[in-house]
Amino acid sequence: MAGYHEYLELDQLLSLQRPRTGHLATELPFIVVHQVSELWFKLIIEDLGGALDALDADDAGAAVRRLSRVHEVERLLIDQFVLIDRLPPGGFGALRPALGTASAAESRQFAVIERLSCPPSGGTAPAGHPAEDLWTALCLHAQRDGYEMPTEDTDKAAAQRARSLLDIYWQAGPLAAVCEALVDHDQAFCTWRQRHAMAVARQIGNAPGTGGTSGLTYLEHRWTRRFYPDLWAIRADLQISG
Ligand code: HEM
Repeated sequence: MAGYHEYLELDQLLSLQRPRTGHLATELPFIVVHQVSELWFKLIIEDLGGALDALDADDAGAAVRRLSRVHEVERLLIDQFVLIDRLPPGGFGALRPALGTASAAESRQFAVIERLSCPPSGGTAPAGHPAEDLWTALCLHAQRDGYEMPTEDTDKAAAQRARSLLDIYWQAGPLAAVCEALVDHDQAFCTWRQRHAMAVARQIGNAPGTGGTSGLTYLEHRWTRRFYPDLWAIRADLQISG
């Protein structure tokens, strides 16, 4: 039987924080927050995949349960930035030479989360089955439930989707719960981007990022991104039924 250290592979895990500068008190939290974030990304990917499979199987309840854990993990991810805020003034500047052009913008798992959440354009993609992203999976599930939910990226299709989404919300059934869980995910992700940008502003002001972008200006542009513009757009037209 494996003991605690063996089961969790702690020897290996704890050997993976290898500061490269002499500024241990700054670099260790910097590395740990990034590594822990990647572990949370891993769990999010697992749950987004589970939610996708559940929608493909027309199991809206299971999809909501998986998305609800995604939301909780996203809250933890956002909270971690307090440790970045506690880096000493000038601390990140001291680490910067060791990073070179490395940037978390290269995070492969972050890209997978974006890809699983919505079609690449942020709009809609041609429907395939099984769907490769949650938005398309929602549309296909709704179609199978008898709603007209075209997935094309045209104004006409968007207008039809808006009518169907109002109907779905009016019915207040499992599909409406999925829509709300997706808005939770979208909002938490935007909040993560905003919180990250605030932490970045505190560390580098208006300086460019290590990854070569303009830094804060670039991140401010990124935080306007929405996974589910249709769901945000119809909210003003929703009316409570009780
Ligand atoms: C001192 C702390 C940090 C600074 C100064 C910083 C800075 C930046 C900057 C300037 C960018 C834009 C790309 C570039 O030019 O490099 C960026 C992107 C990004 N960073 Fe950070 N970052 C910090 C901490 C973190 C942490 C803890 C994470 C967690 C994994 C993270 C994840 C990301 C991701 C995923 C992107 C891409 C965001 C998007 O495309 O919307 N960053 N970061």
